[in-house]
Amino acid sequence: MLSIFVYLNSQILIKEILKTTDGSYTLYVPELDETYHSTNGALQESNHVFIEAGLKFSGLKKAAVLEVGFGTGLNALTTFKETEKKELLIEFTSLEAYPLTWAEVSPLDYMNMEGYQEYSIPFEEMHSCDWGDFTPISSNFSLRKLNLKLQELTFENTFDIIYFDAFAPQIQPELWTEDIFALMYKALKSKGVLVTYCAKGTVKRALKAVGFQLQSIPGPPGKREMTRAVKGDY
Ligand SMILES: C[S@@+](CC[C@H](N)C(=O)[O-])C[C@H]1O[C@@H](n2cnc3c(N)ncnc32)[C@H](O)[C@@H]1O
Repeated sequence: MLSIFVYLNSQILIKEILKTTDGSYTLYVPELDETYHSTNGALQESNHVFIEAGLKFSGLKKAAVLEVGFGTGLNALTTFKETEKKELLIEFTSLEAYPLTWAEVSPLDYMNMEGYQEYSIPFEEMHSCDWGDFTPISSNFSLRKLNLKLQELTFENTFDIIYFDAFAPQIQPELWTEDIFALMYKALKSKGVLVTYCAKGTVKRALKAVGFQLQSIPGPPGKREMTRAVKGDY
């Protein structure tokens, strides 16, 4: 097993590469006992929670997406594929407080997953492009990576869809609070949609408390339920 090092809250954390049930890889942080994706299928989770329940559900052909936690870039990659397939126009903004290096991401072999080989150059560009500004990755997809903490977010009425992909509430409870969800609510346009793999009662209550309308929907393999939260009537 390959071990690499990254920082979280100024601590150096060892990360290991883990094969998930659908054959795609993720990173595991032993010290937190936490993975970047579901061990029941990293790729399946990305497609189910963010592409199917978020991007496709919105029905939008042109959308501004905000991702919380760029991490390995897997959600950006699955979104890119959908964008190219359906000729969507996507502006993808992704927050990351503790960026991984390409040396840490490339062993996950996302460029060699079935159906993704043709996106290897754009995927490398997603990792090598500058932070802070939009970079056109294709004529349909631009990426803006923001190296900041979720707590510092100041957008208003900007995004159609939020992929809320923070580490689990038991690992980073401070990212699943009413204060944070109020920032998310403000950042969304009216009728905007937030999706997350999490279906915990406390999280759903915090989302509801700031004004979201909740839809509990079937989760990806290994998870009975996930959450979709909508700003205003849908
Ligand atoms: C579950 S992983 C995200 C996985 C990612 N979406 C992917 O496709 O690989 C959570 C991510 O949130 C980042 N993170 C942790 N605390 C954060 C914070 N306060 N603000 C923004 N990002 C944070 C972590 O470094 C990690 O990359």
